[in-house]
Amino acid sequence: MKIARFSRIGFILAAAGSAVGLGNIWKFPYIAGEYGGGAFVLVYLFTVLLIGFSIMIAEMLIGYMGRRDTVTSFELLAPTNKSLWKYGGFQGLAGLFIMIFYSVVIGWIFHYIVTSLSVLPATVKEAEATFNTMLHTDIVTQLFYHTLAFIWITYVLTKGIKGGIEKMNMILMPALMLILAGMFAYATTLDTFSQAFNFMFSPDWSKIDSNAFVVAVGHAFFTLSLGMGAIMTYAASLEKNSNIVKAAFWVVFLDTTIAIVAGLMLFTFLYQYGAGPAKGPGLVFISLPAAFYEMGIIGNIFAVLFFLALAFAGLTSSVSLVEPMVQYFIDRFSWSRLKASIMMGLFFYLIGIIALLSNIDTYSEYLTWGGKNFFDWVDYVTAAIMLPLGGFIMAVFVGFVIDKSKVESIMKPQLGFAFETWYFSLRYITPIAMFVVMLSLMGVL
Ligand code: PFF
Repeated sequence: MKIARFSRIGFILAAAGSAVGLGNIWKFPYIAGEYGGGAFVLVYLFTVLLIGFSIMIAEMLIGYMGRRDTVTSFELLAPTNKSLWKYGGFQGLAGLFIMIFYSVVIGWIFHYIVTSLSVLPATVKEAEATFNTMLHTDIVTQLFYHTLAFIWITYVLTKGIKGGIEKMNMILMPALMLILAGMFAYATTLDTFSQAFNFMFSPDWSKIDSNAFVVAVGHAFFTLSLGMGAIMTYAASLEKNSNIVKAAFWVVFLDTTIAIVAGLMLFTFLYQYGAGPAKGPGLVFISLPAAFYEMGIIGNIFAVLFFLALAFAGLTSSVSLVEPMVQYFIDRFSWSRLKASIMMGLFFYLIGIIALLSNIDTYSEYLTWGGKNFFDWVDYVTAAIMLPLGGFIMAVFVGFVIDKSKVESIMKPQLGFAFETWYFSLRYITPIAMFVVMLSLMGVL
């Protein structure tokens, strides 16, 4: 079968587009805030380098060697027990599951772009009330924007690797970087920038416990889009003789830089105009709009630009979350791209409606079990079980199952003396870390 190939820069931007998402701009700043800033940031950077980077290379390698959808790639590359190993490729399902709530959140962002054009909430209290009213009572608005997200994402997927995914990333990623760079430059001129800088980089080790470590590893995985076949699927469309290590480096570098730039900028604004950093998941939807209000008219402009950037980040990640299963149905069941994209789109869209309703007051009691509503359950199961499990399987697969000489022939020329370190990390450090993270996120440890 003829597969469209990414251009070199197209691949890096698409993989970076996958990695840079709501995780960087929405999640990273608030968990860094919760765990006291600096020390957490250092632990996170350390895990990104030690575990994230090596799994990123491994995931790209499986895609690059297999050249097919995730399931077929596992099947082709396993020297024995093929019918068992192919199940390793079903980690692609995690992406579809993540989309169930990711698309709803993108819907909120669309809504915030529109409301930022008019009046911003004057206080944090008011902002909180606005957000909660939308979340817990307003089905129509959420459904409208969730539908818009579904249409956009599905449309891009129907256009394929070149004309859809690569094209969107080539436009939205530079736009996102430009917006963030502009707002960051403004933040550096404010008095509180140094305060934000200290918060992000001077470690307060008292806030770090084993839980912070687990959260850091889990987040490193989520933010780098690892463990669910997104990067693997993109890498199946890499040109022959591509340098995997270089591409992986760029993706990790861009993802980390953007998370840190976003964090520094948000904390500067929150120190200068708002209530300070530690504000939980509502940080960008509650504290930030109130801080923008204090800036006057420039705050409105910033609010629109900020939520636009957040939407761009979310959309480029979304297509990568769905593409593995789209590719699977194209490859294994000979579905047309159009059919596969629409079916996968409908899957996350329709179940996404249940996730949306589970936040609505009148329905939540029917959609809540064991203290978590459906929305939170999907988040929990994907982040605590599916992604670490996917990471574990991939590390073991490349470290122990694929013939070492094959791995070596591709990776040694690229990694040089670092090859053995990478291989060791894949065999021993990463699987153990993944296992510990999974058990402790599941509450077993
Ligand atoms: N990396 C994305 C983020 O930080 O928001 C989320 C994500 C995208 C996770 C794609 C996994 C994935 F395969």
